[in-house]
Amino acid sequence: MPKPATSRTRELIFGDLWEYDPAPETADPKLKSRYDLFINGKFTAPKSGQTFDTINPANEAKLAEIAVAGADDVDRAYKAADKAFTSTWSKLPGIERGKYIYRIARLLQDRAREFAVAETLDGGKPIKESRDFDVPMAAAHFFYHAGWADKLDYIAPGRRVQPLGVVGQVIPWNFPLLMMAWKIAPALAMGNTVVIKPAETTSITALKMGEIFQEAGLPPGVVNIVTGAGETGAAVVNHPLAKKIAFTGSTEVGKVIMKALAGTDKKLTLELGGKAANIIFDDAPLDQAVEGIVNGIFFNQGHVCCAGSRLLVQESIADEVLARLKRRIAVLRVGDPMDKNTDIGAINSREQLAKITRLVASGVKEGAEIHQPACKLPAKGFYFKPTVFSGVSMSHRIAREEIFGPVLSILTFRTVEEAIEKANNTAFGLSAGVWTDKGSRILKMSTELKAGVVWANTYNKFDPTSPFGGYKESGFGREGGRQGLLDYGQLVG
Ligand code: NAI
Ligand code: MG
Repeated sequence: MPKPATSRTRELIFGDLWEYDPAPETADPKLKSRYDLFINGKFTAPKSGQTFDTINPANEAKLAEIAVAGADDVDRAYKAADKAFTSTWSKLPGIERGKYIYRIARLLQDRAREFAVAETLDGGKPIKESRDFDVPMAAAHFFYHAGWADKLDYIAPGRRVQPLGVVGQVIPWNFPLLMMAWKIAPALAMGNTVVIKPAETTSITALKMGEIFQEAGLPPGVVNIVTGAGETGAAVVNHPLAKKIAFTGSTEVGKVIMKALAGTDKKLTLELGGKAANIIFDDAPLDQAVEGIVNGIFFNQGHVCCAGSRLLVQESIADEVLARLKRRIAVLRVGDPMDKNTDIGAINSREQLAKITRLVASGVKEGAEIHQPACKLPAKGFYFKPTVFSGVSMSHRIAREEIFGPVLSILTFRTVEEAIEKANNTAFGLSAGVWTDKGSRILKMSTELKAGVVWANTYNKFDPTSPFGGYKESGFGREGGRQGLLDYGQLVG
């Protein structure tokens, strides 16, 4: 009898994948060789005189130099935002604020291709995603909130709502432009002004938005963009003029921010990590479910806080689902993010690639079975093969920790109760997915799952009107919809 392997690597060989001709996107991203801080409506050199390089993770080539904002630059930004709040923005009627926000949305649409290419170059995501998802969705958030700006009297019937003042915002690298839109659009609609810090690996589209704010004639100081790493982020979070902090990023930094703000009167919303369960019952339409699962975890290289990184599959269909997933990942195209046919682009940074590699190695070591296709990865740049683990148990690190990469862990269950128990057995609670033919089961699951978003027979669907946010260590506060907008105001009267 062959000795059972505790872990082994199985490469899937499906013969040669038909090669498409290269189909590179050619639009000009109109990059500058150097980007300064955007403060009080102008691009301005940092007091420190320091810059850092931003690279293209697809080939490690330098794209531009970005200014490092020190504490005095952050202070200048807050002072400009505070002045803009008291002297102009909070005094403007909502209908006038709305016009500026509409203009921003329209200008972003006008320059959509250019922004999509810049986003892909700086962050590594496939061009088809930045072109078809990130940029249009960012514009949609500005449009949606522009519509609210003159209707705030209806947001909380019988109550009046007021802006908070200057809000400080720190955002991550997985959806650089979209996270900026999620944060800025509601803040401006409500009448606040902003100091925002993009992530250090992906500052370019944020700074290009500075150009759009200028084109839109947005009053100086209404939005200020400061760039740099964690130290700059800490200066944004701790500035005394901030009335609210909104953060999206790691749970670790979220906790640091919570501690720093304890005892102050600053409002705080946190959107942190996730370890979402995608739950597939034996009556689910399998073709759609497999597509949804693949989209749920391989979309944007798995750099998605609500990624469906745990697949809970009913035992009776587990073998069938695994076989279909293996067939599907064998034909995913991994490589140059600028190619229009690429499904999985570059991992955002060397650090993130190291983290994914480490966690995948722990899965193998702890005895899960790894499945990867035979695809070739480009020699330069940061890439990781789409990876599926079967035979995973809840005690494995790959089932508990956020990997933030294209790695799916499969666990099985027998009953509805067991599925709910396993899905909720996590420190996080951002999202979940349910695949079943039964409406009543969808309702039961969505009530019992401790997750801010539950998708049914679909995954990763976004809309500016639906609030998004977490339970437990995934954070608190909502973004999008009426609820998200209310997090940027205070109810008075
Ligand atoms: P991070 O939390 O360090 O970075 C997010 C943002 O916070 C960046 O703009 C960064 O400059 C800023 N920042 C860092 N330290 C700060 C501090 N002390 N005070 C204020 N701002 C600070 O995340 P990182 O290291 O880039 O990624 C690590 C892991 O976090 C990822 O592997 C992933 O698991 C998770 N993550 C989750 C995200 C989400 O959307 N929920 C987004 C990005 C990362
Ligand atoms: Mg970059």
